[in-house]
Amino acid sequence: MKALFSSLQLRDLNLKNRIVVSPMQQYSATDGIPGHWHLVHLGSRAVGGAGLIMTECTAVSPTAMCTINDVGIWNQDQVAAWKIITDFIHGQHAKAGIQLWHAGGKASSKHPKEGMLPLSVEEGGWLPMSASSTPINAHFPKAMTLEEISEVKEQFATAARNAVAAGFDTIELHAAHGYLLHQFYTPLTNKRNDQYGGSFENRTRLLIETVIEVRKVIPAGMPLLVRLSATDYSDDVNAWTMEESLKLAAILKDKGVDLITASGGGLVQVDQSIVKPGYQLHMATKIREAVQLSVGTVGMITDGQQANSIIENKEADLVVIAREHLRDPYFALHAALQLGETPDVPWQYARAF
Ligand SMILES: Cc1cc2nc3c(=O)[nH]c(=O)nc-3n(C[C@H](O)[C@H](O)[C@H](O)COP(=O)(O)O)c2cc1C
Repeated sequence: MKALFSSLQLRDLNLKNRIVVSPMQQYSATDGIPGHWHLVHLGSRAVGGAGLIMTECTAVSPTAMCTINDVGIWNQDQVAAWKIITDFIHGQHAKAGIQLWHAGGKASSKHPKEGMLPLSVEEGGWLPMSASSTPINAHFPKAMTLEEISEVKEQFATAARNAVAAGFDTIELHAAHGYLLHQFYTPLTNKRNDQYGGSFENRTRLLIETVIEVRKVIPAGMPLLVRLSATDYSDDVNAWTMEESLKLAAILKDKGVDLITASGGGLVQVDQSIVKPGYQLHMATKIREAVQLSVGTVGMITDGQQANSIIENKEADLVVIAREHLRDPYFALHAALQLGETPDVPWQYARAF
């Protein structure tokens, strides 16, 4: 069997293959409740054969959202709506993961169709909050108080409990792409001088404490994942470094994190000339080797052979595929055919394969 189609065990979770549908924001919900769009979008990618279907970034509170059309999991209406989706995914022999998220200083934005500019309080928005008042793109967040930091940790824990009730098999904390947890650990946006700012220990404190709080409320057999921006892709001498990512990954492993997906950036414009097939793979491989932790790799993985060789060469444990899954919801079925494997086709579609 080709390595891409081998199973992966993380605690009690068994994935049928190494292909993950990467979280992709859809900006298509009302009141944070996933609807028909989300069922069809995530459901068709489960039909398409990926082993793990990740939700888009899912807000832990109303003010954690980027736009008012994001999804959330802070209340029971949302839990009930997610349960329909996880049930469908399970019916396709796939597993469901939820990416828990707080947008921090990037919160309160207009819909992408309106250019994603900040949504002012007068227009129905709210004041975004971050580690510090450092502007992020066109946003001017307020620096969080210690009380607000503690509330956010509780919101992550409540959201994690809700995710378990909604039938998710795993939880990923979104600590990348310039959102709140990343805003704390990178010196680019963290200018605090209390216990949450300054040293590496202080800047990573919020993420580590969030991991501890979430781990406490989810079953021992449920794997916990973290998505990191392993690099800021910034020339600033103060930017987050790969060395810090390795140090952080070792601590996260110790606190009960089972897999890290190494992404990057989110706060500065990325030089597009570096964006080529598998451009972020080296960071995942470094974490895997240095920390002896399972890793996912994301970024420009678009082909079955390419995906298989990453797993075969033990460069990563999971291939996390975003845009190619938008072009081809049946990526995993097509990759199986390409690699000479028998695709796990739903019986309703068997006559086509
Ligand atoms: C439409 C779209 C929405 C995205 N939303 C999220 C998100 O909710 N959470 C996240 O971590 N990354 C998000 N991303 C980033 C992807 O998960 C992925 O990291 C990035 O697109 C690179 O992978 P790719 O080359 O396979 O597309 C999004 C990307 C796209 C294209």
